[in-house]
Amino acid sequence: MTTSHRREPAEDTATPRSTPNTPLGVALVGYGYWGTNLARNIVAVPDLRLVGIADAESAQRARAKAAYPSVEIWDGLDDVLNDEHVEAVVIAAPAALHAAMATECLRSGRHVLVEKPLATNRRDAEAVTELAATAGRVLMVGHTFLYSAPVRRLQELIRSGELGKVQYVYSQRLSLGRIRRDCNALWNFAPHDVAILSFVLGEKPIEVSATSVTVIDPAVPDVFFTSLRYRSGIGAHLHVSWIDPRKTRLMTVVGDEKMVIYNDVSVDQKLWIVDAGVARNPDLGGFESLGEFQWRTRAGDIVIPKIDMTEPLREEMSAFAAACRSGEPPVSDGRHGLEVVTVLEAADRSAKNRGVPVEIDW
Ligand SMILES: NC(=O)c1ccc[n+]([C@@H]2O[C@H](COP(=O)([O-])OP(=O)(O)OC[C@H]3O[C@@H](n4cnc5c(N)ncnc54)[C@H](O)[C@@H]3O)[C@@H](O)[C@H]2O)c1
Repeated sequence: MTTSHRREPAEDTATPRSTPNTPLGVALVGYGYWGTNLARNIVAVPDLRLVGIADAESAQRARAKAAYPSVEIWDGLDDVLNDEHVEAVVIAAPAALHAAMATECLRSGRHVLVEKPLATNRRDAEAVTELAATAGRVLMVGHTFLYSAPVRRLQELIRSGELGKVQYVYSQRLSLGRIRRDCNALWNFAPHDVAILSFVLGEKPIEVSATSVTVIDPAVPDVFFTSLRYRSGIGAHLHVSWIDPRKTRLMTVVGDEKMVIYNDVSVDQKLWIVDAGVARNPDLGGFESLGEFQWRTRAGDIVIPKIDMTEPLREEMSAFAAACRSGEPPVSDGRHGLEVVTVLEAADRSAKNRGVPVEIDW
């Protein structure tokens, strides 16, 4: 990361005091459902110090004060940036505010961890990513699953070649509830799946198509079926919904040697590695007309590896602290967040056109 083009902090904000030997001063903006988890994990990481919490709602500020009586409580970002003890800002406000808030923080010389999605359109995501590079500040996106042990293991299984050539992937991220009005189910849930796919496959989709179903409010679709096509031939399919009878967090990866089922809802069986596949039956020679008899299926052992779990959000916070200290980009840096937003924007556009495929120009 370069520091040579660092911007001067805006005049109306306090310059963050650099304190290399003391924990990094962090402010949290947004103390709603997810903000409470973020605060708990900021406090748990030794190299971070929670300086204060900002929320626009007085009821949320009261909750924050009760939980963290010794930290500053503010009602907006201006106060946050006027505090010289704040060296980094964690943003957990609604998605529509992410890019603008991250921009203000970066301009004031702070490092930023912004919740997913980085922005609600590609143009804003590009601008904020560029700003972070110019400012020489960390821009990290809260793609929490990239810090979870099963997803890391899944990446190893794919990258080491143990699964053979990946043929296709499909995932389901479903629940009944936490229905949002500020963004649709695609922008709320699919950032996770798109981020995981990009992380484990190491390639970007070149074409996206999606269809949506609207149950509650015609302006905010509740269900999305999204298909991604990759240059290598891999096909992926994502199903997200907040109107579903069962909480499901499932991803299945089918390779030509092995297959993996990743079930994030399971407590102790998050990954099943299935030694199964389909191969041409060598005994049958060239009798093409035999159809399915030309193919032999193989269903071998299922291995369920023991995975030591640390809370992914704790790992994410530690990675943020490490990135701020070292200047090395974290795995979910701005560039990665921009990639995810680009795919989501294309999927949303396709859904508005009843599934017409959208090519992505990288
Ligand atoms: N990484 C994950 O796994 C994960 C999980 C859940 C939510 N999230 C993300 O976290 C963000 C927040 O989600 P949530 O479920 O906590 O929403 P929420 O609505 O419960 O909380 C948002 C909070 O932001 C506050 N806020 C709104 N405008 C503000 C402003 N201008 N200044 C300060 N505070 C403001 C609201 O008062 C509210 O308390 C979203 O972007 C969501 O995508 C991420």
